[in-house]
Amino acid sequence: MEFDALHLDYRPIEVLIPYARNARTHSDGQIAQIAASIAEFGWTNPILIDGTNGVIAGHGRLLAARKLGLTAVPVIELQHLSEHQKRAYILADNQLALKAGWDEELLAVELADLKLAGFDLGLTGFDDAEVQSLLEKLVEGDSSADDEVESDAADDIPETSIRSVTQTGDLWFIEHAGLTHRLLCADAGDMTAVSRLAGFGKASLCFTSPPYASQRLYTLSRTGPGANDAAGQWDAMMQSVCAALPTVLQPDAQVLINLGLVHQDCEVQPYWDDWMAWMRANGWRRFGWYVWDQGPGLPGDWNGRLAPAFEFIFHFNRQGSDMRRPNKNVPCIYAGKDTHLRGDGTSAGGMRNKDGSKTAWNHVGTLTQDSKIADSVLRIMRHKGKIGQDIDHPAVFPVALPQFVLECFTRAGDTVFEPFCGSGTTLLAAQKTGRHCHAVEIAPSYVDVALNRFLQNHPDARITHADSGEDFKERLARLESETDAVKSQAQTQPQTQTQNQPQKVAA
Ligand SMILES: C[S@@+](CC[C@H](N)C(=O)[O-])C[C@H]1O[C@@H](n2cnc3c(N)ncnc32)[C@H](O)[C@@H]1O
Repeated sequence: MEFDALHLDYRPIEVLIPYARNARTHSDGQIAQIAASIAEFGWTNPILIDGTNGVIAGHGRLLAARKLGLTAVPVIELQHLSEHQKRAYILADNQLALKAGWDEELLAVELADLKLAGFDLGLTGFDDAEVQSLLEKLVEGDSSADDEVESDAADDIPETSIRSVTQTGDLWFIEHAGLTHRLLCADAGDMTAVSRLAGFGKASLCFTSPPYASQRLYTLSRTGPGANDAAGQWDAMMQSVCAALPTVLQPDAQVLINLGLVHQDCEVQPYWDDWMAWMRANGWRRFGWYVWDQGPGLPGDWNGRLAPAFEFIFHFNRQGSDMRRPNKNVPCIYAGKDTHLRGDGTSAGGMRNKDGSKTAWNHVGTLTQDSKIADSVLRIMRHKGKIGQDIDHPAVFPVALPQFVLECFTRAGDTVFEPFCGSGTTLLAAQKTGRHCHAVEIAPSYVDVALNRFLQNHPDARITHADSGEDFKERLARLESETDAVKSQAQTQPQTQTQNQPQKVAA
C-alpha cells in the first residue's frame, strides 16, 4: 500500500472551522489539561483538517491553543478523504484510541519515576486519585512479589534484555588523571559491604541525595524494622545508611544530605522528623540547613501550589565549631578595597549591640578580603537534558551541585563519600575538582549507568573490577556478545517450528 506524504503546515487559528456535528465533548477541565500539556511539551500532535480548513481531529487542541492565546497552530491537511470517510474518521480518531488499554504495573512504575523526578503528574492527564490508586497498587504488588508461588518453568519468557554488567557485591576502581574513585554495588546500609571502602581511606565529606520519603519503594529493603510501612521503611533505610557513616568518614567529616518536599493528603509531609531525631540521638547535630534554588519553576498545574523551585540540604557533623570550616571560595566583588571602613579603621557595616553601639569588626582596618564563604542558598539550575548516550536515571543532579559542595567543604586530594550514587554525578564532580569519590549504589543497572556515564565523559578512564581485575569495557563487550548469541538463538527457534507447520495459502 502506498500513502501520500504528509506535509506539516501552520495556519492562523481564526481560519480553522470546528466540525459543527462533532459528537466528542471536551470539558473545561480537559481543555485546561491539554493547554498545560502544550505549554509543557510544545506541539506534538498537529490538528488534522480537510481541504477547506474544516477540523477533522484536534478540536480539543484547537480550544486549548485559543486558551493559550496562540495565533497559529500546526496542521496536516487530509485532502484525500471523501465526505463520508471524513465523517467516519472524526469518530474513528477518538474511538480507536479508547480501545487501547494500560499495563497498570508499567504505568505505575512510569508515574512513580516521574514523581521522583519532581515532574507534575497532572501533565500526564491522570488525576490525583488515579495516580494515588496506581501507586498504592505498585506498593502492594511490590511487597507481595516475595510471596509469589513458584511459576511453571514453561511459562518463563526467555531473557533477551541486556544483562547488567555489574552484579551486587562488585567493587569497581575508576582511575583517571591521577585520581582513583571506587564504586561499590551494595546496600549503603550494609556495614560489612561499606567497610570495604573504608580500607582505602576515610572521607572528609558525605554529600548525597537519598530517595525522598517512600517514592522508590522498590529499592528499599523489605526486611528489618518498619518493613511493613512506607515511612518506617524510609526511616530504617536512612538509619542503616547513616549508622555506617562513622565507618567510612573521618571524625571531623561534614555530612550534607539533599531532600525534597513531599506532599500527601493536601499537606507537606515532614517525613524526615523521626530520622532527624535518630541522627541527633546518634551524635549527629543538625548543624546547618540550606536551600538549593533550582532555577525558575516549570510550567504546570501544581495542584494549587506555586511551582516548586527548591529543595533542602541538611548539614550534619559531630564535632564542635573548631572543626574544619568551609573554604572561602567565592570571590568578593570589593576585594582589596576599603569602602567598608570608617576613618578610624573600623567597619562601617555590621550589626549593633543591644545598647546601640556597633559591634567591632574582627578584621579591623583590613581591606575587603579576596574571597568569602558561599551563601546558604545554592543557586544552581536543576539538571536538564540527557546524561549520555543510551543511559538514563530518573533523579539526576546537575554536576554543578556536588561540585559546589565539594569545593566548599573539601580540598583537592580529599575523599568524598556518596552512598546513593545513582547515575554517578558525584563521581564526575569529584573528577572535575580533583577529589577522590567513594560511592555506593544498590541497583546494579544504575552502577552500569554511572560507569558508562563516567566513560562517556572520560573515555581514557580505566575501570577495573577490584577482585578479578577484569576491565569494565571488556566485561561489557563479553556480556553483549553473549546476549546477542542468546537473542539470535531465540529468533531462529520459532522459525524452525513454523517450518514444520502447515503453510497458509496466500489469499
Ligand atoms: C535520588 S537517587 C540519586 C541520584 C544521584 N544524585 C544522581 O545525580 O544520579 C537515589 C539513588 O539511591 C539508590 N539507592 C536507594 N536505596 C539505596 C541503598 N540502600 N543503598 C545504596 N543505594 C540506594 C537508588 O537506586 C537511586 O539510584
